Amino acid sequence: MADKAEKTLEDLFHDMLKDVYFAERQILKALPKMSKGAQSPELKAAFEKHRNETEGQVERLQRVFEIFGKRAQGKTCPAIEGILEEGADILDEFKDSAALDAGLVSAAQAVEHYEIARYGTLKRWAETLGMAEAARLLGQTLDEESKTDKALTGLANSFANEKAKAA
Ligand SMILES: [Fe+2]
Ligand SMILES: [Fe+2]
Repeated sequence: MADKAEKTLEDLFHDMLKDVYFAERQILKALPKMSKGAQSPELKAAFEKHRNETEGQVERLQRVFEIFGKRAQGKTCPAIEGILEEGADILDEFKDSAALDAGLVSAAQAVEHYEIARYGTLKRWAETLGMAEAARLLGQTLDEESKTDKALTGLANSFANEKAKAA
């Protein structure tokens, strides 16, 4: 690691890559719990689908580490720990209620927005650093996160929010 005064975009890129690598692996562990907890088959399926995508996203990050010439390594990300903790709270506190699925959608969207922020930045930094293949891989994941976010909005609008309203 470079001296603080000598740090560059390469160091920022490396730090954020480690941050998001940690985050994706935490998300990989959280998604089965959210799928198991969700009440509707549609939301369960959405979480299951995204768990499979997330496995591929972890592999893409490993490729990006390789392209960058560093070993794949995570760095504790307090932001994702907090976001996932809030999701776990909803699972616990709204268990068996009609509002659970709406709450789980909201928790999952917080995760997706975090990821969209990270991958958007990483993709632009990879482009600036002249790593076209890394930028392409990061862009693929960015698209998956955006599609997941939109699918979650669709589930909230189609049933989850209405179901959650007091009868
Ligand atoms: Fe992801
Ligand atoms: Fe995601």
